[in-house]
Amino acid sequence: MPCLISHSPAETEAVGEQIGRHARSGLVIGLSGELGAGKTQFVKGLARGLGVAGRVHSPTFTLVNEYSGGRLKLFHLDLYRLETRAQILSAGIEEFLQPAGVSVIEWAERICDLRFAICDLRQVRIEIVSETERSIIHDDIGA
Ligand SMILES: Nc1ncnc2c1ncn2[C@@H]1O[C@H](COP(=O)(O)OP(=O)(O)OP(=O)(O)O)[C@@H](O)[C@H]1O
Ligand SMILES: [Mg+2]
Repeated sequence: MPCLISHSPAETEAVGEQIGRHARSGLVIGLSGELGAGKTQFVKGLARGLGVAGRVHSPTFTLVNEYSGGRLKLFHLDLYRLETRAQILSAGIEEFLQPAGVSVIEWAERICDLRFAICDLRQVRIEIVSETERSIIHDDIGA
């Protein structure tokens, strides 16, 4: 799988932005990587690439944040708190797996056994290399 090195939060955002510019409706991006890897940073860029104005922060008290105003709607899910299979199945995330717009899912490893239900899934894994470096391993995200 393609892998690139990001040297700063801005570079990680730029990767997301590039993907956002070319995204098509129905795209689901599954993000994995440990706490503080840069998943939310990536989503900030993704939103910008889609033309979403305003601030992006992770859904903390809700499962999903919805951003409109861009070229496509963006659904930002964070599954960190969903630990069991029962919690995931009862959370009602189906509509975000075939989105009318783009979905991006932090802690997508939580739903790895649902990945076959997603038509257009791209997986992005961010690994911490050093304080400011990250490796970003991604499925081919051709435009
Ligand atoms: N190259 C880099 N890319 C992304 N973030 C970086 C980089 N270097 C340093 N950072 C820092 O790492 C942190 C990444 O935080 P972020 O909230 O995006 O992580 P996360 O993966 O969403 O974590 P969580 O699992 O808690 O949601 C930020 O404080 C950011 O400034
Ligand atoms: Mg996050």
